Amino acid sequence: MKLLVTGGAGFIGSEFVRMTLRTHPEDEVVVLDKLTYAGNRANLAPVESDARFRFVQGDIADRDLVNDLAGTVDVIVNFAAESHVDRSLESPGQFIQTDVHGVYVLLEAARSSRHARFLQVSTDEVYGDVTTGRSVETDLLSPRSPYSASKAGGELLIWSYRTSYGFPAIITRGSNTYGQYQFPEKIIPLFITNAIDDRPLPIYGNGQAVRDYLFVEDHCSGIDTALRKGSPGENYNVGIGTEINGITVADTILRLLGKPDALKEHVRDRLGHDQRYAIDTAKLRGLGWEPSVTFEEGMKRTVDWYVANEEWWRPLKSRDFWEFYERNYRPQDEPVSKG
Ligand code: NAD
Ligand code: TYD
Repeated sequence: MKLLVTGGAGFIGSEFVRMTLRTHPEDEVVVLDKLTYAGNRANLAPVESDARFRFVQGDIADRDLVNDLAGTVDVIVNFAAESHVDRSLESPGQFIQTDVHGVYVLLEAARSSRHARFLQVSTDEVYGDVTTGRSVETDLLSPRSPYSASKAGGELLIWSYRTSYGFPAIITRGSNTYGQYQFPEKIIPLFITNAIDDRPLPIYGNGQAVRDYLFVEDHCSGIDTALRKGSPGENYNVGIGTEINGITVADTILRLLGKPDALKEHVRDRLGHDQRYAIDTAKLRGLGWEPSVTFEEGMKRTVDWYVANEEWWRPLKSRDFWEFYERNYRPQDEPVSKG
C-alpha cells in the first residue's frame, strides 16, 4: 500500500509513519506537512534514510500540490491540523483554514482520484463536555471550543461526501494522546519539561477536569486497525477508558521526576473548559484492537524519554513559545485578548 500521510511531521502523525514503515515492510509513505510551529522534521529522523519514505513540505489547502500527490498513492491518512485548544481560543482563524478548508481540499483531491481509502484523524473532543456516561460513535456532535468545532466541521464535510458521493471515508476519534515527540504545549509534555527545569506546573482552575489519556503507540495502532480492518463510512472511537484529572497528571510527573509538590500552581481556568471526555471503544475493540500501555507505564516511558531527549525539546521552548505562554498564563486580573 502507498500512503499519503498529511501532518506526518507532527506528534501522532510521525509516530504513525515510524510505526507503518516498521510494521508493514511492503508499504511506502509520502508525508505532506506544512511544518508549522508544531511540525518538526526531526520527528522523522528515524525514517529519513528509508527508501520507502518521502517528505514533501506543503499545505493541505494547496489544491495543485494535493492533487498531484493524491494521484500517486492508494490511501490518504489525514493528521494535519491546528491542534491546541488554547491557541484556538486566542486565534481561531487558522483552525478553520486547516481543519475545515484543508479537509475540503483533501476530499476533493481524493474524490477525483477515486481513492479506495481516506482516513480522517479526528478527536473525542467533537462530542463536547460529557457529564455522564460514555460517548458512542452515533452520538450527536456538540463541540465547544474553536478547535473542536473546526474538527467537527471537517467531519461534517466528510459525512456529506459519504452521503452525496458514496465517498468511502473512515473517521477515528482519538482521546487525549501523550508520549514521545509531543510539542511541549499540551499538559503532559509541558508539565514534564517545566518540572525538569523546576518551573511551576500551571493547573487550570481546580484541576478536576478529566481526560482519557492514551499512549501514542496505542492511538496509532488504533488508527492502523481502523484503516486496514474498518468499514468504509464508519467512525471509530480510540481510547483506553481511564479518567485522569489535572492534579493526578501533575502528581504523577512530580513523583516520577522526584520533584517537590510545591511546583504545582493553580492558574486562571481555560475559557469554556470541557470538564470531561469519555468514550466507549467497543466498536474498535470489535475489530481486534486493544490498548497495551497503562497510564502508569506510558507516563514512565514518556518522562524517561523527555529526560533523555533534551536536545529535541529545548529548542522548541523558544522565544515564540514563551510569548504565547506569557499571554496564555497571564494572571487573572489582566484582560483576555480577543483573537
Ligand atoms: P500536532 O500539532 O503535533 O501536529 C500537526 C501537524 O500538522 C504538524 O506537523 C503541522 O506542521 C501539520 N500541519 C498543520 N497545518 C497544516 C497544513 N495546513 N498543511 C499541512 N500540514 C499541516 O498534532 P497531533 O497532536 O499530532 O495531532 C494530529 C491529529 O490528531 C490532529 O488532526 C488532531 O486533531 C488529532 N488528535 C490529536 C489528539 C491529541 O491529544 N494530540 C487527540 C485526538 C486527535
Ligand atoms: P490539553 O493537553 O491542552 O488537551 P485538551 O484541552 O485538548 O484536552 O489539556 C488537557 C487537560 O489539562 C485539560 O483539562 C486542560 C488541562 N491543562 C492544564 O491544567 N494546564 C495546562 O497548562 C494545560 C495546557 C492543560
